[in-house]
Amino acid sequence: MNAIVDVQSVEYHDNIYARYATLREQHPVFHDASRDIWMISRYDDVRRLLRHPEGTLNGETGHSYIPSLATTDGELHRTIRTAVIPEFSRGVVANLEPMIASILDELFADLTGDGEIDLYSKVILRLPQLFMTRFLGFPESQTDHWYAIGEVLMGVDPVSGEQGHPEVQLKVLDEFADMIEQVLEEKRSLPGDDHLSWLVGREADGTLTTEEVRIFANCLGFAGVDTTINLLGNGTGLLARFPAQRRKLIENPNLLDGAIEEMLRMEPPVQGLPRRLTEDLALHGTVIPKGAEISLLFASANHDPEHYINPEDFDIERANKDQLAFGFGLHKCIGQHVARLEARAYFPRLLEKYPNYEITEARWRLSHWARGFAALKIRP
Ligand code: HEM
Repeated sequence: MNAIVDVQSVEYHDNIYARYATLREQHPVFHDASRDIWMISRYDDVRRLLRHPEGTLNGETGHSYIPSLATTDGELHRTIRTAVIPEFSRGVVANLEPMIASILDELFADLTGDGEIDLYSKVILRLPQLFMTRFLGFPESQTDHWYAIGEVLMGVDPVSGEQGHPEVQLKVLDEFADMIEQVLEEKRSLPGDDHLSWLVGREADGTLTTEEVRIFANCLGFAGVDTTINLLGNGTGLLARFPAQRRKLIENPNLLDGAIEEMLRMEPPVQGLPRRLTEDLALHGTVIPKGAEISLLFASANHDPEHYINPEDFDIERANKDQLAFGFGLHKCIGQHVARLEARAYFPRLLEKYPNYEITEARWRLSHWARGFAALKIRP
């Protein structure tokens, strides 16, 4: 019998929600021996543990090689989060709309012909990369860095099969952190109209220390690009799989916000994230010992039939919108309104230009935590 969790197999990723159903029904607390991690799969458990900051820690999991906000706890996390969160409110973020629109208009204008289109490389990958480059104020010549860290962070393409040497992967991450460091230094002497300049301004006025600025800047780089790529890609896949819902969205553009929430519920870009237990945890007859690592499976929670009616249906008018794709509680995604804004700009353009597109090639990456395509091609 196949292992329930087998991240290296293509079949696992093609049937991942059936595997999660097995976990929820038969093993709500499952020890994945291959990684020595306890997988928590039911909605109520995942949500409760996300609100359990005293009993779980993000930073102690040892998965982060470079310090970043998501892997910080306690007072340091609170200080940084409090300082930056107003900049990511829905209202402030709305000002970024023209920048996103102009990137997308250019990308879609470059797509011509009625043959097969490599939508993934030409648009899905490019929008979040170009947006973050301009938002942070990186030199445009540095956009290849995003591609390189995406390959490291998001997992293997089963066709190329290249996992990459651990030393090469660390080198890519190091180079990325060095680049952020260098750009921050440039902004200190020559600030511009971008987010890294805003951040070094908070350092200058004493709100944040140099180390806190670095921790947040790293987090934006690691957290904001590949996740959004996967929202755009996964949503493109869902609209093709459920043509009646796509038709409904084309006929009722006011359903767009609900459609994006439903994409996030059905195919969350972040499938799950780890925490380290600071005390024993008793759950469904198992005691997970203090110090153990748990994985909170947002994606499985989002498909829990105890919480959602017909969870395997993609229903853009679903009333229940409390999906966990952005996490929940203390570490809930700071960039959620940015991601939604990019999606709100992308899908209408896609549907206007290619209302009847079909997927001609698609394959999932082999990843422990990310759900995203390694390739996605369409025919108009
Ligand atoms: C669809 C796209 C996105 C998804 C699915 C996503 C998902 C998540 C999740 C699940 C977390 C929680 C981590 C945890 O609980 O440990 C998180 C945290 C975070 N995200 Fe996002 N994210 C997305 C886009 C973005 C964007 C566009 C940005 C930046 C502009 C961003 C910045 C952050 C930051 C800074 C954190 C750390 C928050 C903290 O630890 O307090 N994310 N994200």
